[in-house]
Amino acid sequence: MTELSSTRAHRVDRYLVEVLVGEDAALDAAVADQKVAGMPDIEVAPTGGKLLHVLARAIGARRVLEIGTLGGYSTIWLARAVGQGGHVVTIEAEPDNAQVARRSIDRAGVGEQVEIRVGRGADVLRTLVGDDPFDLVFIDADKESNTLYLDFAARLGRPGTLVVLDNVVRDGRIVDKDDHDSQIVGVRAGLAMLRDDPRFEATALQTLDAKGWDGIAIAIVVDPGAADDRTHAGG
Ligand code: DHB
Ligand code: MG
Repeated sequence: MTELSSTRAHRVDRYLVEVLVGEDAALDAAVADQKVAGMPDIEVAPTGGKLLHVLARAIGARRVLEIGTLGGYSTIWLARAVGQGGHVVTIEAEPDNAQVARRSIDRAGVGEQVEIRVGRGADVLRTLVGDDPFDLVFIDADKESNTLYLDFAARLGRPGTLVVLDNVVRDGRIVDKDDHDSQIVGVRAGLAMLRDDPRFEATALQTLDAKGWDGIAIAIVVDPGAADDRTHAGG
């Protein structure tokens, strides 16, 4: 087997972006404004953003919840997927970030679809209980709170809701037993919850893209009461 080379992997990523994502003025402007505002460049990679978009369209998502807006990059990808009558609720803890994101989202032409809720995830999420269920939940915020966010994803979703959890590999650090960094601990706890909590059925993929080596977990919310003989089938 060919040795994995990060140089070649990055060339491959650039190639895939060139072939399948292409140039996008509104998204480029969102990233540029995010940088000018001093936010870290930790938005999802172009292929990751488009993956969210494709997944949202595949399931016909009309109501999307995003936890962690940052500069609005992934928000724009998601908002483009929900269509005219669709709705994206995105939660951002930093008011300054939210302001930058608002401008970028409006400039991208999807302002009508996006509601930015400023506040700490836990506080805002509580206010959403009882609303219509979300079809897709994208979790991309402080990793320490992954289990709390997953719990809300299940509560604010319905059976079939798609949940995407970002940054589950972190340069492979999740398997370093001596790594007790709070974010890494939060990532492991999130993955363990996806395994143990009967409300989820999940898998994960490693990614090697413009953001380096990381990964996403992809889960569906299931009805824990419903018998499903596909569960743990095979093997
Ligand atoms: C970090 C957070 C992210 O959501 C991400 O995609 C990459 C990095 C971070 O906190 O370092
Ligand atoms: Mg992320």
